[in-house]
Amino acid sequence: MVKKSLSLCLIVLAAVFVISGLSFASDKGDAEYVLKSTVDPASKTKLAFFPHAKHQAKFDCATCHHGKDADGKQVAYTDGMKIEKCESCHNKAAGMPKGLETFKKAAHKLCKTCHKSMKKEGKATGPTKCNGCHRKDLK
Ligand code: HEC
Ligand code: HEC
Ligand code: HEC
Ligand code: HEC
Repeated sequence: MVKKSLSLCLIVLAAVFVISGLSFASDKGDAEYVLKSTVDPASKTKLAFFPHAKHQAKFDCATCHHGKDADGKQVAYTDGMKIEKCESCHNKAAGMPKGLETFKKAAHKLCKTCHKSMKKEGKATGPTKCNGCHRKDLK
């Protein structure tokens, strides 16, 4: 009897894990973001336009998202992994290496590097000029 209810418990638990896992996997975030640095903001705020869905249609989640292990090392994205805001790790208090210690730097490294290298290859890509991302019409 005890065994039976225990295994029932395990089945229910497993089901809960599967369902919550699925709902994580289907959280794709918003279709568009207006990104803003809040942890280490510049003296003058610069908002950045980011069409998330357009990028999701072309690239894997792992192209941009990753995690961090207990030693502070980068962990590759795996399906269903919890996705955190860049700033929650890329901030001056988190002991990140130089060039990655703010949202601005991490974002510039990710976004601009891809746009620039695709442009070099002659492929259609996103903006490389400041105002392409930091659109004047954003508020
Ligand atoms: C491919 C997109 C892209 C391009 C091109 C780009 N940036 Fe950014 N930039 C971002 C993102 C994303 C952030 C982080 C979110 C934010 O603060 O707007 C950012 C952050 C910043 C910040 C910090 C803003 C703040 O409020 O703290 C400054 C300053 C900045 N960028 C200046 C520039 C300048 C100057 C150029 C051109 C030489 C440039 N950026 C080109 C995407 C871009
Ligand atoms: C080209 C880069 C890129 C790709 C590809 C991408 N994302 Fe994102 N995603 C971002 C950026 C940048 C943000 C904004 C993060 C922030 O606000 O700090 C974001 C935000 C999110 C958020 C919201 C996080 C939060 O806490 O606000 C979720 C969820 C998410 N993405 C899921 C996904 C999934 C799932 C995929 C793959 C299907 C994916 N993303 C593909 C760059 C990308
Ligand atoms: C859970 C913590 C965490 C989050 C969230 C996170 N990063 Fe990182 N990121 C790291 C760590 C750790 C490294 C490795 C730093 C090193 O080289 O020691 C890294 C490295 C990077 C690098 C350089 C290496 C590479 O893969 O190109 C870029 C660029 C970068 N992150 C951008 C971003 C952007 C943009 C976001 C948001 C979409 C983001 N990161 C979210 C922890 C994080
Ligand atoms: C791995 C490559 C890659 C990365 C990383 C990437 N982009 Fe792009 N981006 C593209 C490509 C390709 C397009 C063209 C997409 C299209 O038109 O369908 C694009 C288009 C854009 C556009 C123009 C969209 C439009 O509607 O005209 C903006 C703005 C943009 N990206 C901002 C960003 C920002 C901000 C980041 C970082 C948070 C980023 N991108 C990261 C490849 C990338």
